[in-house]
Amino acid sequence: MNKADSAIAKPDITLRRIRQTDLASVVALDTRVTGHAKPEYWNDMYERFASRRADQRFFLVAEGDGKLHGYMAGEVRAWEFGSEPCGWIFGFAVDPDSRLRGIGEALFQGIADEFRRVGITTMRTMVPRSSTLPMAFFRSEGMVAGPYIQLELDLEH
Ligand SMILES: CC(C)(COP(=O)(O)OP(=O)(O)OC[C@H]1O[C@@H](n2cnc3c(N)ncnc32)[C@H](O)[C@@H]1OP(=O)(O)O)[C@@H](O)C(=O)NCCC(=O)NCCS
Repeated sequence: MNKADSAIAKPDITLRRIRQTDLASVVALDTRVTGHAKPEYWNDMYERFASRRADQRFFLVAEGDGKLHGYMAGEVRAWEFGSEPCGWIFGFAVDPDSRLRGIGEALFQGIADEFRRVGITTMRTMVPRSSTLPMAFFRSEGMVAGPYIQLELDLEH
């Protein structure tokens, strides 16, 4: 059992680092939540997170009764956009049948603890303006608008 494998607030749920055997469940949950199956993406993500920079890349899953109920992935990114090192959450989902039981919050706190453990003091994520549920979730966990503004350009016109 590694440092991230620990009991969390929910008595029937354990938070731990992802294992290869979790990948099919992560792909299935992501597909259910986003409507878009991307097994190659998740396999590649797993390879990168499991094999390199384990002190900066964190991919946690919430497991209970032999089932994967959710996951959250993030990594430390440094010096891009003139930023000091900070922890980015870039992927997360809780099974629709397991929501509103504190699992998302446990994953959020778990990944925040991982970032703190390696000396990171700021955590960031990005949320589409139309995604009211993730926005409500992150706001309820204390996240607020940060100092950066995202800019983009449509290259087809
Ligand atoms: C956002 C998400 C992770 C929340 O997971 P969860 O386990 O249900 O969340 P929790 O039970 O820990 O809730 C934590 C807080 O979030 C907020 N929240 C969660 N679900 C909410 C909802 N449906 N409406 C409003 N607020 C909500 C609440 O403030 C809640 O605290 P409270 O229960 O004390 O009020 C989950 O709904 C999800 O996976 N959504 C889809 C995410 C997604 O689109 N991922 C793909 C893109 S990366």
